[in-house]
Amino acid sequence: MQEIKKSVGIIGIGTYLPEKVLTNKDLEKMVDTSDAWIVERTGIRERRIAESDIATSDLAACAAEKALSDAGVSADEIDLIIVATVTPDMLFPSTACLVQDKIKASKAAAFDLSAGCSGFVYGLVTGSQFIQNGIYKKVLVIGAEALSKIIDWDDRNTCVLFGDGAGAVVLGEVESGYGILGVELGADGSGGDLLKMPGGGSRLPATMESVNNRQHFLQMSGSDVFKFAIKVMGEAAVKALDGAGLTNEDIDCLIPHQANNRIIQSAAKRLKVPMEKVIVNVDKYGNTSSASIPIAMDEAIKSNKIKDNDIVVLVGFGAGLTWASCVIKWCKEGNTVASK
Ligand code: UT7
Repeated sequence: MQEIKKSVGIIGIGTYLPEKVLTNKDLEKMVDTSDAWIVERTGIRERRIAESDIATSDLAACAAEKALSDAGVSADEIDLIIVATVTPDMLFPSTACLVQDKIKASKAAAFDLSAGCSGFVYGLVTGSQFIQNGIYKKVLVIGAEALSKIIDWDDRNTCVLFGDGAGAVVLGEVESGYGILGVELGADGSGGDLLKMPGGGSRLPATMESVNNRQHFLQMSGSDVFKFAIKVMGEAAVKALDGAGLTNEDIDCLIPHQANNRIIQSAAKRLKVPMEKVIVNVDKYGNTSSASIPIAMDEAIKSNKIKDNDIVVLVGFGAGLTWASCVIKWCKEGNTVASK
């Protein structure tokens, strides 16, 4: 079993989704695709798209403010902000610094974390370390993406899959036995080419040629990422459960990264978790990368699909390639009491 020094858990959660909805029918007018293909192959029916003047930090700040209000914590109590994103406002400064300024979390340290769609769980695990070790008391972890800005809207292989959104949590100390009980993080950099945005970094700075070659858009080998996801989701969750001294039979609620309904169903099957215990909202928002898990978790809490004392398992996979899982014993009320 993994040794937990101080118990750390989620003491507040909030999400923000842009209002504009892009349906599969809308996409039929843009590329050679069909609602039937998208629903059958992915489960996605619609996704949210940020307005042209909205960037990731705007979505992140809105979600952060809701999480702070849910936790009853003011921005100036936050010690650290971690933003997991693959769509930062710009290469630097970090989106976390932009959020720090927007929400006026003046004493918070701030940095971004790049782990693709596993980013939120990577952030949760990273942020929790500072509290476990007594360095910080309150950490804001945000998964936020404006993926519509890096999508090639002429590429039917990718443009039907992604959406924009943000989810945020406040981490704090909770009653012993609750909060994060087990974690698993992993990476296989040899798969980096399978999901990437090649242009705009130091390897391929922006040139007329790189723009004309569409190298500033997301590129993905969908079927390879699919195979990787099928394999890694179950394995990662089992390792995190093992770290918590639990098994798949203890899972009350499974919150997988929302990329594709077929991947979610396969993960549930491998873990022998019935679909009633699995949170699925990919139909409404598509793949929002690092935002997908906190958005799904917030919905699950608000619809009472997560109850006190439930064992909740978060599991994601994504660019890198990366994977991440985290086992949480949920008790919002207990958490709130302990955090005061
Ligand atoms: O968060 C991590 C990021 N990414 C993912 O999780 C994505 C993981 N991968 C997937 O979800 C699936 O691989 C996809 C949904 C991307 C694709 O599904 P698939 O069952 O693996 O299809 P495929 O890539 O093997 O393509 C099958 C066919 C191809 O046509 P041909 O070559 O068989 O004639 C594609 O050109 O489907 C075609 N196709 C489409 N047809 C209509 C691909 N995209 C579309 C589309 N509409 N939008």
